Amino acid sequence: MESKVKFSQVIPEKSYRDFVELVEDRYGLQLKWYNRSSLMRRLLKVMDQFQVNDLYTLMLLLSSDHKYYEKFLDRFTVQVTDIFREPKGWKKLRELVLPLLRKQEQIKILIVGGSKGEELAALCIMLKEESLLDKTEITLSDLSESALRASQRPSISKTRIKEAELNYRMGGGKSNLYDYYQSTSSLCYFDENLFANVERLHFDITQSELGKKYDLILCRNLLIYFQSQFQHLPLARLVRHLNPGGFLSLGEQESIAFYKGHENLQIVSSSQKIFRQNLISF
Ligand SMILES: C[S@@+](CC[C@H](N)C(=O)[O-])C[C@H]1O[C@@H](n2cnc3c(N)ncnc32)[C@H](O)[C@@H]1O
Repeated sequence: MESKVKFSQVIPEKSYRDFVELVEDRYGLQLKWYNRSSLMRRLLKVMDQFQVNDLYTLMLLLSSDHKYYEKFLDRFTVQVTDIFREPKGWKKLRELVLPLLRKQEQIKILIVGGSKGEELAALCIMLKEESLLDKTEITLSDLSESALRASQRPSISKTRIKEAELNYRMGGGKSNLYDYYQSTSSLCYFDENLFANVERLHFDITQSELGKKYDLILCRNLLIYFQSQFQHLPLARLVRHLNPGGFLSLGEQESIAFYKGHENLQIVSSSQKIFRQNLISF
């Protein structure tokens, strides 16, 4: 309640609505899908960083030059990520999903909201260890262009490497994480050869479709930023991108509760939020 009062004092309702409309009209991004209080909080942060006092001034900046919109996206999106984040989910993918995908001649995987590429690195390492990397085409997508640029050379800070090694092991890793990276004084860069079959793509799940289908889609820790009343829209979009029998992996805190086509999905792991589209496509 306290924060509601504070937000409405700093960001009047009318300017908030005008801002959401401008971003949708000009750039297609549906800000209204996002949780309102965290969106407000991040808008205040963006205003502070852009050194503007009101949303109308921010609107002028965003409509004057695309580069400001890119900067806005960088500050507005939460790009927190981790290699082998939620390791039990990786283990389930390895144990329950890869044995079925292995039977295919070629495998197509899409990552939505992949941030700076740590999730991609985990996926490629897992596929390599299962001898599936060479026959897999991977598309890494995100709303943020700068996150995609960083994903060209996935790395993690040396200070996080012990935790990463632990998560890798808990995620079913078969070797040692250090087999897959080279370190500098502060960063560990993952081996470029892991990413030979990776295409990077700007993709906003609130506005468009890719016109392709995939055998596995990872969309982890993105839906949590959307209000529950809108979650059926991205979920339906993700399911439309699945081949019959294709798999969908969400974040541990996420669910398909708001998806209106439950009958199209089977549960593969309820704790790790892995689902499979029925073999007979709707
Ligand atoms: C918290 S990160 C999750 C990263 C990774 N999936 C993981 O689980 O570690 C959320 C990512 O979603 C991206 N994102 C936010 N809104 C998006 C949208 N409308 N369409 C696609 N990606 C979006 C952000 O840029 C960010 O990189």
